[in-house]
Amino acid sequence: MTLWGGRFSSGPAESVAALSRSVHFDWRLAPYEIEVNLVHLKSLVAQSVVSKEEGGKIEKALLQLATEIGSGKFTYTKADEDVHSAIERGLIEKCGPVGGAIRAGRSRNDLVITDFKLYLVDHLLEIAAQITSLVQAFNAQAERHLDLIASGFTHTQHAQPITFAQELSKHSHGLLRDVDRIFDWLDRNNFSPFGAGALAGSSLVPKPEKIASELGFAGVMPNSIDAVSDRDFAAEALFIMAMIGVHLSKVGEEFILWSSTEFGWLEIDDAYTTGSSIMPQKKNADVAELARGKSGRFIGNLTSLLVVLKAMPFAYNRDLQEDKEPVFDSVDQLLLLLPAVSGMVATANFLPAKISKTAADGFSLATEIADFLAKKQIPFATAHEIAGECVKFCEKNGITLQQLTTVQLLTIHPSLTDEVKELLDVKGAVDSRRSSMATSKNSVSTALIQLKSEITRIESEISRRRKPLSGMI
Ligand code: ARG
Repeated sequence: MTLWGGRFSSGPAESVAALSRSVHFDWRLAPYEIEVNLVHLKSLVAQSVVSKEEGGKIEKALLQLATEIGSGKFTYTKADEDVHSAIERGLIEKCGPVGGAIRAGRSRNDLVITDFKLYLVDHLLEIAAQITSLVQAFNAQAERHLDLIASGFTHTQHAQPITFAQELSKHSHGLLRDVDRIFDWLDRNNFSPFGAGALAGSSLVPKPEKIASELGFAGVMPNSIDAVSDRDFAAEALFIMAMIGVHLSKVGEEFILWSSTEFGWLEIDDAYTTGSSIMPQKKNADVAELARGKSGRFIGNLTSLLVVLKAMPFAYNRDLQEDKEPVFDSVDQLLLLLPAVSGMVATANFLPAKISKTAADGFSLATEIADFLAKKQIPFATAHEIAGECVKFCEKNGITLQQLTTVQLLTIHPSLTDEVKELLDVKGAVDSRRSSMATSKNSVSTALIQLKSEITRIESEISRRRKPLSGMI
């Protein structure tokens, strides 16, 4: 069924019907559409556009449709153009021509975005909840490794020793920024376009504020033309999801590297690996690789919508139908990926002996020598040169910094007195970095406590913002 037959002498060509159809992907908006219909119906009855008696019939049919959509008994047919036409058909099938009254005062232009926003509010909050589980998995692993010291890296080369718990927790902060971005998204976008009609507003929707508040929105959009045009909310949601995807890709990359034979820092649990069809010994880090790979898709979805939106005239243009699939795809993929990544992190077996073994390799304590000299008021640039000479000397003689003798140190520079030797120790180096953001065990465990209280704040924020659908599935 289409919603626009009257002025046409023929239906659309088959190719046009196929091109224009969106029901196969926008059907997932059905629960939200029913919700919007129920609230709109109340307003139509209050204005006597629909009589109380007819309103009762339509309401009953809508609630019945909700149940049948939930159980799969009612679904779209080949002839339905989109979710809106399918639901109107269902309504008319259930209560006769009076079902068509629901269309008064609204257009698919404002309806589709209202549904879409309600869908996004729900699903972004679900993604936020999934992210908190992942952060909890990192927190639990970090807590187990507060006494473990590893080499930290820059340029994937040994840089300075760090507390391994800090290495694990670093992922949590970006992920929690993603959750805060979701809350920001809600603060900015949780405004209803309903009542904008086709573009100019409608005399049959005199109080869009009331409808908005019943639907759980924070208010209404201030300009009906902007209201039906705006897809910033979808693009922003795609950016947030792309950013989450990028963060997950970094988790993936690290797990791939650390679980390699060459690193041997961690074993991924059997439940989160897959095998090879030809090499019986293989245990591949496929979850991590998919986390890395899917980031391309999230970024692509964002790019595709931005290109659709560029230079588009205001109000509704059919191009806008291209807004939903990228969003649905990013939501689906994230909701597939996040539980698997959380499971992989929660069950990973880190191997402390292997991790700590190389903590002092690669002259990772050279900065300690430079810092020691700087504390003696030697300009850091000079101190850096002197520490570099120590490294050069060691490399040439095949020894480590710790093996430098008192005489050798003093020969390199007279300020390199014996006390410097006490600093050439990974634990000392780590413990000396005591600021709130730094790597000492104390700093990292305080930061972990803060991360846990962040989780509590986020959990209560998610439940405060979640609005269950009323008549719904
Ligand atoms: N399926 C359409 C979409 O997703 C619904 C809005 C159609 N509006 C219109 N004026 N043709 O954008």
